[in-house]
Amino acid sequence: MKDFSGKLAVITGGGTGMGRELARQLAAQGCDVAMCDVSAEAMAETKRLCAGDRLPQGLRVTTHLADVADERQVLAFRDEVAARHETDHIHLLFNNAGIGGGNSLFTDPREKWERTFNICWGGVYLSTRAFLPMLQKATEGHIVNTSSVNGFWASLGPGLSHTAYSAAKFAVKGFTEALITDLRLNAPHIKCSVVMPGHIGTEILANSRKILSGGERLTPAEMERARARLAAAGVDAARLSDEELQRKWAERARRFAEDAPTSAADAARIILDGVKAERWRILVGEDAHHLDERVRQDPEGAYDAAFFESFAREVGWRVA
Ligand SMILES: NC(=O)c1ccc[n+]([C@@H]2O[C@H](COP(=O)([O-])OP(=O)(O)OC[C@H]3O[C@@H](n4cnc5c(N)ncnc54)[C@H](O)[C@@H]3O)[C@@H](O)[C@H]2O)c1
Repeated sequence: MKDFSGKLAVITGGGTGMGRELARQLAAQGCDVAMCDVSAEAMAETKRLCAGDRLPQGLRVTTHLADVADERQVLAFRDEVAARHETDHIHLLFNNAGIGGGNSLFTDPREKWERTFNICWGGVYLSTRAFLPMLQKATEGHIVNTSSVNGFWASLGPGLSHTAYSAAKFAVKGFTEALITDLRLNAPHIKCSVVMPGHIGTEILANSRKILSGGERLTPAEMERARARLAAAGVDAARLSDEELQRKWAERARRFAEDAPTSAADAARIILDGVKAERWRILVGEDAHHLDERVRQDPEGAYDAAFFESFAREVGWRVA
């Protein structure tokens, strides 16, 4: 798809981060946008920002409350998009919504593991199924599924478990790669891309814990796990008060958003350029390109501490 003007894009997780920036850049290029999210407030802000970038006359940006892990809500979202945009077809589907969490089979509750997996993988699967008939009715279409570097490297370093998110992101990558052939055979006017971002400056840490734990503050069980993790990293965590731990967590979320090598706006630009160039594989950020090369060079060593340490040093990643 060479031009987004006059098209309709559906974005899941349009409330903040890359979803918000995709919405803004698409609207600025004359593309109608329908987004869903679990936060009405965040979507209202995205819509305000789209309009602030001077919404061309007649352009529609609509917001829809829907949890992508719940098929009933995804289907209701699809029906609302058809009704509010008065159309039977869409051109672009960005399966972007995602959260982190449910890291360990041993120390995290099963509900959190499955919630993460069901959003990151289930959301992509259910939304693709729901919107496929509307993509089929368009003259051209593109499905953009957001995986991660954790879709080809299932780790955040040797001191952290990362099972639910990695399993889901590998699924998104495998699904999208298999979809290339399925679309060629059955709906050749629809293309697809898998997006694999490195570290992007967004609110994913804070949002994920709001979605998994329902609040801003660490729960007592999370404090216990955070203490254990810090202790494993050589920090005398037993001496930290709950308030100090809370502050450390907030500082980590702030650093993740503000000190990232790639901004959400730059990530959205890279994704949209990749779609226009019809690339099925879109790596986002120098760190993602670098990690992709490193894993290919040394697949067997990819989960060793030395691999992570030298990679993290080279790209400036800090996971603490
Ligand atoms: N930020 C990074 O470093 C990074 C790296 C690789 C991949 N990703 C992926 O990029 C995508 C976008 O993440 P982001 O970093 O912009 O995060 P973000 O938290 O800023 O944005 C994600 C949005 O999705 C929404 N969301 C979460 N669960 C939802 C659900 N069940 N239903 C509907 N909406 C839901 C959130 O409310 C939020 O508005 C995610 O799939 C994430 O896994 C992010």
